[in-house]
Amino acid sequence: MADKNDTKGEPITTPNFIGMLIACQQDALAAIAESDKTAEFLRIEFLGGKSELSKLTHQIRLVPSADRGQVGTVVNDVKKSILNAINKKGTGNRGQGTETFDPTMPGIRPPEGHLHIVTQAIEEITRIFERISFTRVRHPEADWDYYAFEALNMPANHPARDEWETFFIESQKSKVKSQKFSKIVLTPHTSNGQVREMEKGKLPIRMINIAKCYRRQIDVSHTPMFHQFEGLYVDKNVSIGHLKGVLDYFAKQFFGPERKTRIRPFHFQFTEPSFEVDISCGVCLGQARLPDGQGCKLCKQGWLELGGAGMVHPVVLKNGGVDTTTYNGFAFGWGVERTYMMKAGTRLDDIRLLYSNDVRFLEQF
Ligand code: FA5
Repeated sequence: MADKNDTKGEPITTPNFIGMLIACQQDALAAIAESDKTAEFLRIEFLGGKSELSKLTHQIRLVPSADRGQVGTVVNDVKKSILNAINKKGTGNRGQGTETFDPTMPGIRPPEGHLHIVTQAIEEITRIFERISFTRVRHPEADWDYYAFEALNMPANHPARDEWETFFIESQKSKVKSQKFSKIVLTPHTSNGQVREMEKGKLPIRMINIAKCYRRQIDVSHTPMFHQFEGLYVDKNVSIGHLKGVLDYFAKQFFGPERKTRIRPFHFQFTEPSFEVDISCGVCLGQARLPDGQGCKLCKQGWLELGGAGMVHPVVLKNGGVDTTTYNGFAFGWGVERTYMMKAGTRLDDIRLLYSNDVRFLEQF
């Protein structure tokens, strides 16, 4: 504690000290008028031991001793005016005047966050597939390029690998040369989980693999990091009809019965035959134009591509150790973000918004 008689420091004249007190008072009154803090906080801030006024009062020892009585009166007046301002401002229903804190009043609920919309979408997708006996599994998001490409019927120099615009990882492990396991990639798709799942040796397979994927792409419908969900079904006598049934089931559950899906022939190295699955756009509602006549920014002619699908290529089944004389299967891989954007009511026309971390945007969902 500072000793009142301790006169260390430059002497202060009485008019100067009173001037400092008045300035301190005015600053405090202006701040109190604008503040929306409670009386308890304001009292601590402007009259408490660490307040400007308290610091100033400790310097009273630097004023000529003959004037300290007069200065003390000013200090008291300043304190009273600050206290009055705090009490006058009131604390709403928390009490006024000397009644400063009523512990029986309900507390103020702090703002609550919620799960990111992509996490919500992943949970919803998982629940939908669980209802038809698919099990959510996890496979590495940084994986050998063997699982991301070679095991999927895309040998090292295959031009199809360029489409995936892959990130490669430098690591001690990838310096250990082996024919099969030579390079590590940030998985550009969840299809790396296909052969890994088959290698577990448990049939039939009904997996749903949801993971982060990475590609060197960024625009209104691409982000460098995104999520895919990969379905894989391997059993006896699996047909395209089963695949179509599962895709339609999912589309109806997730988007609602009014939305349309379509399947177009396509090419993937790891499925034969292969398809691309489209859904009618949720922004222009399949019209390709908005009500104001402007073209839809997000889709192509009213359709948005969600992902690929097809019957698992026999080479892939063999790479996973599956007996192709008895078993076959289908697979599909869709983007989680694109799927979510197509949901009725979201009306998102730029995928990058999902990762802009703007709370004003995120709290709308
Ligand atoms: C694939 O990745 C295949 N592995 C899908 C597949 C799985 C086909 C199983 C057959 C059997 P594709 O490159 O088209 O296919 O990507 C699938 C979906 O991922 C796209 O339709 C899109 O919805 C999403 N996607 C791809 N790249 C991005 C990106 N950069 N940002 C956001 N979503 C993306």
